[in-house]
Amino acid sequence: MTTTTTTSARRQEAQPILRVEDLHVRYGGSHVLQGVSFDVPATGVTALLGRNGVGKTTTLKAVLGLAPRSGGVALAGRDVTRWSVTRTVREGVGYVPEDREVFGGLTVEENLRLVGGDVGVDAPIVGELFPDLVRRRAQKAGTLSGGQQQMVALARVLLRDNRLLLVDEPTKGLAPKLVTEVADVLARVAQTTPILLVEQNLPVVRRIADTVVVLDAGQVVHRGPAEELVSDPDLTRELLGVSMRREARQ
Ligand SMILES: Nc1ncnc2c1ncn2[C@@H]1O[C@H](COP(=O)(O)OP(=O)(O)OP(=O)(O)O)[C@@H](O)[C@H]1O
Ligand SMILES: [Mg+2]
Repeated sequence: MTTTTTTSARRQEAQPILRVEDLHVRYGGSHVLQGVSFDVPATGVTALLGRNGVGKTTTLKAVLGLAPRSGGVALAGRDVTRWSVTRTVREGVGYVPEDREVFGGLTVEENLRLVGGDVGVDAPIVGELFPDLVRRRAQKAGTLSGGQQQMVALARVLLRDNRLLLVDEPTKGLAPKLVTEVADVLARVAQTTPILLVEQNLPVVRRIADTVVVLDAGQVVHRGPAEELVSDPDLTRELLGVSMRREARQ
């Protein structure tokens, strides 16, 4: 490899996949995001944290263009602020929303084919990451457990070619075993695709996140390595109002 290639490869690696700069969202008279700025590195899991109602979901929606935004959003160095939601998704931003939104009346297979067309459950990535879904291909999605529905929502997004995934509270309301399963799937996905993950479960953050961004009252109040935050009980209590030790015992 020549020196030039090495330098350019390093430069590419250093460029964040997502840059959010001075992002504002207003709903009527409510100023929900008040100048949010952070980067999502091109590799690994970046966890977006904060107490209930601070604007985490709104941040993901604003990145996609689903919330009325002002400020800068750049994907791999390209300004996307004028892009439609459709274009942003087409250019590789995958979104798994908080409420999962699987089609309950359709089978697992049909849910996946809505996105994957011909491939659906038979796509290699589904067999590799979600063997349970292959077994349940003919089951109506509405009859699946919350964890299984979460797997359908994740699988559906992973059928596309993503450059970045936005995943909103994927472990919410799941039994501990499924929390671990979902976290493991995300960790495997993050080996190839960077993830911006909203997550309230700190043991999950400790397990799979590399960096954290903490919001409070519509602003970023902390950024840094995940381990630094989750290993500091005073800081987690101050920023998130939770104790890592208590959560870890659950
Ligand atoms: N469409 C909307 N219209 C008006 N207000 C909204 C809308 N969506 C969100 N909000 C408000 O914006 C604030 C931030 O909401 P958001 O859903 O982003 O919080 P969050 O951090 O994701 O919370 P949670 O942890 O409960 O999921 C809340 O006060 C919420 O009521
Ligand atoms: Mg939310």
